[in-house]
Amino acid sequence: MNLVRTRDYEEMTGRAADMIFEQVNRKPDSVLGLATGSTPIGVYEKLTDWCQEGTLDFSKVRTVNLDEYAGLSKEHPQSYCRFMHEHLFDHINIDPENVHIPDGLAEEDVECARYDRLIQSLGGIDLQLLGLGHDGHIGFNEPADAFPLGTHRVALSARTIQANKRFFEDESQVPRFAYTMGIRDIFQAKRVLMIVSGRDKAEILKEAFQGPVTPRVPASILQFHKDFTLIADEEALALF
Ligand code: F6R
Repeated sequence: MNLVRTRDYEEMTGRAADMIFEQVNRKPDSVLGLATGSTPIGVYEKLTDWCQEGTLDFSKVRTVNLDEYAGLSKEHPQSYCRFMHEHLFDHINIDPENVHIPDGLAEEDVECARYDRLIQSLGGIDLQLLGLGHDGHIGFNEPADAFPLGTHRVALSARTIQANKRFFEDESQVPRFAYTMGIRDIFQAKRVLMIVSGRDKAEILKEAFQGPVTPRVPASILQFHKDFTLIADEEALALF
């Protein structure tokens, strides 16, 4: 594991955006695996700025998002599809045909198989960006008895529902299920980049990367990845 310790969120964001910049410059048709949530917002702002200044070109980039709430349409204000458009896709020169996000309204078996085939047809993921859930999830791969392999429909844990209610009117509005790429899809990415910020992630960050590899802490599998970079700020690394 390649650990980059940063002073704060701002520096973490800059280092992560630099890695994506370098990836896209080196391979203009890179397949980027993307995440939603609060943590990557600063990274998406930087990528947007560079694209608008003309220093970064997304015209050939392909993207696959990690996850989507089951039952929400693409247009729903809290869908991850809307999130990605608001924070990134609507502001950069990406071809809409090259943007891929699980369809929250599609039928489970069909959608999961389609998404796995899609990732394969793109030749796999060149660089996967990840955040870290308070229960150790990556994508929406929640703690479980075994590592789920491919894209699947998952019941969100109570902890995740609690953490995500901030985006909804109240807790009852948070969808109980989501579609997520599986651990195999994520693990097969050529490079994996995780960003973590804030004291509230310190316990789980320590468990994930200084504890045993276990499906009870899904992110821990990344200890085995051959090109894994963790960029985290001092607060998140407080217990390391
Ligand atoms: C979102 C995702 C999740 C988040 C995680 C952390 O697409 O895959 O695993 O990365 O829940 O979320 P934040 O960044 O809001 O703390």
